[in-house]
Amino acid sequence: AAPVRYEVEASPGVCSGAIESNWSGFSGTGFCNGTNSTGGHAQFTVTAAEAGTATLGVRFANGTTTARPAGLVVNGTAVRTLSFEGTGAWSTWATETTTVPVNAGSNTIRLNPATANGLPNVDFLDV
Ligand code: GCU
Repeated sequence: AAPVRYEVEASPGVCSGAIESNWSGFSGTGFCNGTNSTGGHAQFTVTAAEAGTATLGVRFANGTTTARPAGLVVNGTAVRTLSFEGTGAWSTWATETTTVPVNAGSNTIRLNPATANGLPNVDFLDV
């Protein structure tokens, strides 16, 4: 099936920081600029038709030359770290893709910054 897009700025998305729109190229009405700290997380609530493995695509921009790694936490369980390398500019967006285990029904998918630099700017999650 085609992926479902969850915009971080759309309820019940969580952005521990601010929803902004000052860099072009984002989808929807904005992106999450998380606070530059390990607490500056983003979270999505996604629906899965059945339990199993889901493919995720996280769209992000990192206008620095330093990766902004983040822990990927599904329903409270750490799954892996996503690297979120520099994309060259804050207006240049890339999608990092991975797979995660999901339950049937509602699932929380959270990005926890691994460093005090915080997250890249986060646009959406495709599931
Ligand atoms: C700049 C940029 C923000 C970005 C921030 C960061 O301030 O304008 O969009 O979120 O850097 O380093 O996270």
